[in-house]
Amino acid sequence: MEAAAVTGSALSRREFLRASGQAGLGAVALAAGGGALLPGRSGATGHPGSGGVREISLEAREVRWELAPGKVIKGMAYNGQIPGPELRLREGERVRIVLKNSLPEPTTIHWHGVDVPNSMDGVPGITQKPVAPGQTFVYEFEPRPTGTRWYHTHFQEHRQLDLGLYAPLLIEPAGPDPFPFDREYTLVLDDWATGTGRPLPSTREGTAGGRGGMGGMMGGGMGRMMEGMMGRGMGGMMGGGQHPAYDVMTINGKAFPASQPLTVREGERVRLRLINASADHTHVIRLGGHRLRVTHTDGNPLLQAMEVDAVPIVPSERYDVLLAAGRPGAWFLYCAEPGHAVAGEQVLVLYEGHERDRAEPPVEGVAGLTLWRYDLGRGREVLPPPSGQERTFDLTLSGGMMGSEVWTINDERYPHTEPLRMRKGDRARIRFRNMSMEAHPMHLHGQSFKVLAVNGQRLAAPIVKDSVDVEAHMGSVVIEFTAHNPGDWFLHCHKPMHMEGGMITLAKIA
Ligand code: C2O
Ligand code: CU
Repeated sequence: MEAAAVTGSALSRREFLRASGQAGLGAVALAAGGGALLPGRSGATGHPGSGGVREISLEAREVRWELAPGKVIKGMAYNGQIPGPELRLREGERVRIVLKNSLPEPTTIHWHGVDVPNSMDGVPGITQKPVAPGQTFVYEFEPRPTGTRWYHTHFQEHRQLDLGLYAPLLIEPAGPDPFPFDREYTLVLDDWATGTGRPLPSTREGTAGGRGGMGGMMGGGMGRMMEGMMGRGMGGMMGGGQHPAYDVMTINGKAFPASQPLTVREGERVRLRLINASADHTHVIRLGGHRLRVTHTDGNPLLQAMEVDAVPIVPSERYDVLLAAGRPGAWFLYCAEPGHAVAGEQVLVLYEGHERDRAEPPVEGVAGLTLWRYDLGRGREVLPPPSGQERTFDLTLSGGMMGSEVWTINDERYPHTEPLRMRKGDRARIRFRNMSMEAHPMHLHGQSFKVLAVNGQRLAAPIVKDSVDVEAHMGSVVIEFTAHNPGDWFLHCHKPMHMEGGMITLAKIA
């Protein structure tokens, strides 16, 4: 089923991918194996410069990237790799990151989940001018808080993020880690619209779909039913805007079988850092034969690990999970969303000595599984205590009516949305209500928040995050944070199409 109508930008991006993919078929042999899988391999990690400042060089440039054998696309990358180099920084050390823009268009970098000074936040037009082709920009900050963060372009994200400008950023604690481990892997998930395969079903209802709520990821959702009956274009009209035809799913820039297997040893505790860099899709991550213990939400530690069968991850979220390696063999780590594993979102987990075992194929769907939910975890008090006033803001999210790409906050599109004004030290509370038919992963720049309540239910021990999924069909979320980082901070839906459609406001902290 092909989209009945495609927006101009989606079409041009897809054509871009398709045209270059054909030209590049088989022509380029890239080094096999996602480099970011190997701990410590990071061409950009740099060296301490003068005065104890660590210097790191990143170059954004176009790249031919082999998603899978024979599937070569023309993308954009940091230092020639997708994802870009994994930066491992120490909490509070001084880092200077020099971005050279070798793209034929402007770009910027946003340090997602990092409490950077406002001028380092990478939002064009708000915190800096876009970095023009051939120019450089120096980002300098002290990485905080600890945990799994990431960095990505903040310029025309619908295009540049989709083409590969993203990478992990891990901030290591100065002290001991609350959840020790023997080995770790970072896994970055992404969706691709290459025009070479059958479009995958949308996951527009987000975690609601994953949990079998109003939506139901097994195809019971209204939007998906309409898609099935009337074709994708019509589903798009019912459920919201037009969706590009995402047809390849990758883990660390590679679609199975190109993904590099993860090695584990029996008896080890293995930490997996899961990052969803997708523009559009929620993924539900499972490991055959094992349960997963969630330890961190968007990089922030829980009080204790929470064991589940699978972890739904909406765009821009991160989860750290521990795996107790107790079932020797070969297994698949994969996404249980229909079609995703087959489209590439699976990677082998091989116990040492079992490299030749056969893994059972992935199982689609989540029937009968215990899924991670925001109210399952118990968060730690890691935010700075408030010292000022209490302020509450009500934000109604809507849009996407009749296939439009208009997305609003309190009926306005950015830049006409009303900024949230507060002072440093204030305790700010934001109540989101979603009146649209798609989920919105709402992300706040510059500081993390607690999730106080979801769909009217208070969380006993609020978890700490920087992106929170507000479910479709009247889902609601209440967050609270201490406005400790002064500046003008974006608060927006992390689906670039929704963001570019207007679902952005500013938290102005004076
Ligand atoms: Cu990760 Cu404003 O974004
Ligand atoms: Cu959205």
